[in-house]
Amino acid sequence: MSSLLSARSGARTISSVGGALCGVRGGVARRFIVDMSYSAHFMDFKGSSIASSMKKLVVNKLSPNFREAVSVQTVAVPTPGDADLLVRNRFVGINASDINYSAGRYDPSVKPPFDAGFEGVGEVVGLGLSASSRYTVGDAVAYFGSGAFAEYTVVPAKESVPVPAARPEFLALLLSGATAHIALKRLGDLAEGETVLVTAAAGGTGQFAVQLAKRAGCHVVGTCSSDEKAGFLKSLGCDRPINYRAEDLAKTLRREYPRGLDVVYESVGGGVFELALNSLADKGRLIVIGFISGYQTASGIPPLRAATLPVKLLQRSASIRGFFLPHFLSDYKEAVGSMMQMFAEGKLVCEVDCGDLAQEGRFVGLESIFRAVDYMYAGKNLGKVVVEVAPPSVSNSKL
Ligand SMILES: NC(=O)c1ccc[n+]([C@@H]2O[C@H](COP(=O)([O-])OP(=O)(O)OC[C@H]3O[C@@H](n4cnc5c(N)ncnc54)[C@H](OP(=O)(O)O)[C@@H]3O)[C@@H](O)[C@H]2O)c1
Repeated sequence: MSSLLSARSGARTISSVGGALCGVRGGVARRFIVDMSYSAHFMDFKGSSIASSMKKLVVNKLSPNFREAVSVQTVAVPTPGDADLLVRNRFVGINASDINYSAGRYDPSVKPPFDAGFEGVGEVVGLGLSASSRYTVGDAVAYFGSGAFAEYTVVPAKESVPVPAARPEFLALLLSGATAHIALKRLGDLAEGETVLVTAAAGGTGQFAVQLAKRAGCHVVGTCSSDEKAGFLKSLGCDRPINYRAEDLAKTLRREYPRGLDVVYESVGGGVFELALNSLADKGRLIVIGFISGYQTASGIPPLRAATLPVKLLQRSASIRGFFLPHFLSDYKEAVGSMMQMFAEGKLVCEVDCGDLAQEGRFVGLESIFRAVDYMYAGKNLGKVVVEVAPPSVSNSKL
């Protein structure tokens, strides 16, 4: 996500304005330099009470151990630049890759300290002049970009998505949903009647892959780690949920799908990747979405016996296709628009997990992001993991 995750500042702009603002002193025309830091004028005019300081999560040391890498800091609330929005985050999304990011695996040239968090949804509480052509204070927006794990984040207006309300479901569609939509559409080549396996199927992105593959008329198999998750997958239309803690995944696939799998939406890596590869049908497509089983290790990569890979692919005319969302941004708008519409029409389930059933309770406040990351890596989440950063603003009915 390098381009989208580059650091942003809320630098003020100094602009010179000619014509009407030129003055005359001592008979000599003088060109005034006017501070056009309009953003200051556009802050908080509806009385949304922006604090002068805020908390944010900062990566201070590179490590896949999120608790070791990241700390909470108190800093000044940033000022949006001319084309930016200042968003008060209402909910932020947890992603498996938050620990890849804290380990410095996205862009090894970026050294700590840097801001953490990929995505948020909230309320516009300040904005620059250019940004005000499309947004106003009080609008609800979702975004993905760097520095989301903060009470306030400066976001370029052009990278924001207007949403009907600052609900966590819209946040889930933005990254997890778009990943499933674009990966299956561009790399899945799904045909009606084909068999699709989704791994980590009850999670943030898996839940969308299951539903989209069903919509394409496929038979869908989904892996998960509990009976509760298997029940959830059934409710999404998954034809064959497999709780791999209760059933042997390899044996089940061999017994019930002897012809093999046409498509695999694979997020786990390591042994699960190898099993998926060995279970492909002729002309099968294995889409590499991630390899979470390795993320907590020092290398970030789960071990793989790959010597026979060319043979396996050739023997079945099969293929392995990698997918990384930032490489498909030209498809992004259409994908998010289509998912928003399906969601609005009640044709798409978007399950979010705010930790209501977590041991220490719901994820509320920035500090609970640490618990939320642990919760995901303990395989406890059902749907997209989301943290509620702040309560709704009283001044805004959209929130
Ligand atoms: N390529 C892209 O552009 C892109 C974009 C978004 C996400 N992703 C990838 O999609 C995958 C899912 O990400 P997400 O953020 O949506 O997370 P998620 O699916 O909401 O949560 C991760 C799930 O993976 C399983 N899991 C957790 N720790 C594991 C471990 N150590 N070993 C094996 N399984 C484990 C758990 O499910 P069970 O307990 O039910 O197995 C857990 O619920 C990740 O691999 C992520 O990197 C890729």
